[in-house]
Amino acid sequence: MRIFRKNNSKSRLKKSNRISFGVGQVVGEGASKNLPAFSSRIYHELKTIRKFLGDLHVERSLEIGCGYARLTPWIAEYSEQHCAVEPEEELFNIAKGLYPSFDFVNCAADKLPFPDNHFDFIFTWTVLQHIPPEKFQQSIDEILRVIKDDGVILMAEHVQYTPSPTTWGHTIEEYQELLKPFVLTMHEPRKVESLVDINVGEIMKFKKNKGN
Ligand SMILES: C[S@@+](CC[C@H](N)C(=O)[O-])C[C@H]1O[C@@H](n2cnc3c(N)ncnc32)[C@H](O)[C@@H]1O
Repeated sequence: MRIFRKNNSKSRLKKSNRISFGVGQVVGEGASKNLPAFSSRIYHELKTIRKFLGDLHVERSLEIGCGYARLTPWIAEYSEQHCAVEPEEELFNIAKGLYPSFDFVNCAADKLPFPDNHFDFIFTWTVLQHIPPEKFQQSIDEILRVIKDDGVILMAEHVQYTPSPTTWGHTIEEYQELLKPFVLTMHEPRKVESLVDINVGEIMKFKKNKGN
């Protein structure tokens, strides 16, 4: 079942058909304005990420739509070489300023400047849900092009909502179909704060074999 989501986001659809994010919108309006909620959310998100990734350690990882690098330092620890891409110039510049030694690239998911079969691990955290339908399939194709055959994809994305001006949910079944031959090996509802029982999407891990 799909549920309509009221759009109260300040994010905007640019002429380029890309959702434009400002610094304050990266983690949602509530948490962005409330420091205790913000720090608690990061704790809960990282705990979940650790549970899903376990002792993963790979050669190359890619984070798509890193924003201002809120999660980047922790995701970078799962590989020898981590690259984070972000299309929004303001966020990209903040990320680079915060972590000058990390590898950031200013680009969008539908045109990734990397060779085929390049990454062992790809991470999207509330990013694909903001890609408009015209660019969505191309973005999925790019992920499947740059990931290695034995790679791992970890994503947190809305899976229920019908289109709003800035968010397009795709069901878990749609993701399973889109990401074939990768298969869903682990998933659970995403909860952002321990005191707030709201489901804001699903954490999904895809690999080619069924083991976790
Ligand atoms: C809700 S924010 C999440 C940022 C970061 N993943 C985090 O959790 O802190 C969504 C991010 O996706 C980026 N984004 C939007 N459209 C994108 C696209 N087509 N390709 C890559 N990133 C995109 C936005 O600029 C923004 O930084």
